Amino acid sequence: MANTKVPYLDLKTQYQSIRPEIDEAIARVLDNCQFVLGSEVAAFENEFATCCGAGECIALNSGTSALHLALLAAGVGPGDEVITVSFTFVASVAAVVYAGARPVLVDIDPRSFTIDPAAIEALITPRTKAILPVHLYGQPADMDPIMEIARRHHLVVIEDAAQAHGAKYKGRSVGSIGDIACFSFYPTKNLGAYGEGGAVTTRNTEYARTIRSLRDWGQDRKYHHVLHGYNYRMEGLQGAILRVKLRHLEQWTEARRAIAAKYNQLLADSEIERPSEMPWARHVYHAYTLRTDDRDVLQAALQEKGIQTGIHYPVPVHRQPAYAELVHTPLALPQSEKAAAEVLSLPLYPEMTDDQIQRVTQALTSLATAR
Ligand SMILES: Cc1ncc(COP(=O)(O)O)c(C=O)c1O
Repeated sequence: MANTKVPYLDLKTQYQSIRPEIDEAIARVLDNCQFVLGSEVAAFENEFATCCGAGECIALNSGTSALHLALLAAGVGPGDEVITVSFTFVASVAAVVYAGARPVLVDIDPRSFTIDPAAIEALITPRTKAILPVHLYGQPADMDPIMEIARRHHLVVIEDAAQAHGAKYKGRSVGSIGDIACFSFYPTKNLGAYGEGGAVTTRNTEYARTIRSLRDWGQDRKYHHVLHGYNYRMEGLQGAILRVKLRHLEQWTEARRAIAAKYNQLLADSEIERPSEMPWARHVYHAYTLRTDDRDVLQAALQEKGIQTGIHYPVPVHRQPAYAELVHTPLALPQSEKAAAEVLSLPLYPEMTDDQIQRVTQALTSLATAR
């Protein structure tokens, strides 16, 4: 057992399973020499917009750029406040700082690990411009109450869907629920490029036009700069690769869900707290995340047995040295702090075998009973 390795992720096995399609897509870009934006990126934008049920998709060079430009298109700037969570990857909050606005951080619902809608309204001030829920681990936030609060207070809703490609809320795809949504195609994501990548989806044509201009130096035509823009364009190779991988996304998502169901079943008798799929959610299990009060000990013991795990995330953003002074936390965030101390993500990727799943759960249950 000590020599058995179950990696947290296995990108190589996935590449091998689609190698001819990927190699052909890469060759197409090398032949047409459209290395930045170009026809493959444009085709990917159409296909991804359709996949999300969104009117428009604008392909970018990262999920962070997607959040930054979504905030700018929504008119967020200095003096404004954006309500989001502390228990997230730092980019959700950093993007608000990029836009010159102040992140106001709210606690999570401990069952879903996503923003607690009941805690939002108390934080709204005349400066609040947007709410930025994060679909953490691939589970959509509870969007109906969030949209209702936003409509009443005339706020923009920006979904951080970086971890949630293919997830659904009450049957609707993430990316089509808020006013704007942001995706990451970082290689480890459920839909991952072979380099950096990201996208915004929206049904608002005005936002889409602004974001298209901002990603390419604020031009409305070549060398005519009407906005203070950025170089946030997607590369042609990433567009071509993502088109191939998008064709497999649904099947990979189903495989992830089946693995999560097996984990749930095999861990049903253990004391470890398993993740909950909320009644509104089609969870896409970017991460399968447990809670346990001796997380660090358990992680080290699993590592000893050759099982790699992850901690997403060990420190909430309001406790990060670079952000503690920049964020505003009018209310305590006990659930965010508790989650940061307890979470442990198990290996999960579509190509995982039954044997690997068994090894993980056997290691876990033997350690849990030994405690
Ligand atoms: C929740 C969340 N938001 C934003 C990002 C930023 O995406 P990227 O790494 O593509 O900039 C990530 C991923 O890294 C993420 O997990």
